[in-house]
Amino acid sequence: MADQGLFSDDLISPEVAAALPEGLDIRPLRKSDYNTGFLDCLRVLTTVGDMTVEQFNDRWDWMAAQNGTYFVLVIEDTSTKKVVGTGALLIEKKFIHSLGSAGHIEDIAVDKTQQGKKLGLRIINALDFISEKVGCYKTILDCSEANEGFYVKCGYKRAGRQMAHYY
Ligand code: ACO
Repeated sequence: MADQGLFSDDLISPEVAAALPEGLDIRPLRKSDYNTGFLDCLRVLTTVGDMTVEQFNDRWDWMAAQNGTYFVLVIEDTSTKKVVGTGALLIEKKFIHSLGSAGHIEDIAVDKTQQGKKLGLRIINALDFISEKVGCYKTILDCSEANEGFYVKCGYKRAGRQMAHYY
């Protein structure tokens, strides 16, 4: 199918969908989001770089083939068909905790014109819903000091210290 979602609609929290303002929809990422401002939305967060539609589709196909590991969702303005928010959840399968799974939240971004309207909170709630539903015992994320207050509002608490080795 040309425009299927990256994962099942059943994993979209009905509570989150119902809490969104009129005219906004939350759904799994589609290949057609190459043209709906998804990448521009991510540019609020960091450098995205240029990519062709083929490169975008290849990455989408690769994620879809990872069997329940990658969950990228978007909030779409249904009148303009533009993406105004996005977030990703990655599922890590472990040996510890009786073959447990941990969720990793990544790449949260809300369009500048839409910030402060609880969309970021809804995205985190929606990713938490998926994480719990697929059986994770915890969800973790890294953020800047400046964003700590936002994640506290979303129910997260400071735990440990981030380390990074860039290549
Ligand atoms: N510090 C403290 N509190 C905050 C912050 C902040 N930086 N941002 C939002 N809040 C509060 C809000 O005031 C609100 O509080 P309230 O419930 O008392 O009213 C609550 O957190 C929820 O805020 P939202 O309206 O849902 O926030 P928004 O939709 O603007 O999204 C986000 C927040 C995602 C940080 C957005 O500002 C953004 O896209 N920023 C740029 C990209 C970015 O930094 N992304 C996060 C990177 S970390 C990662 O991806 C794991």
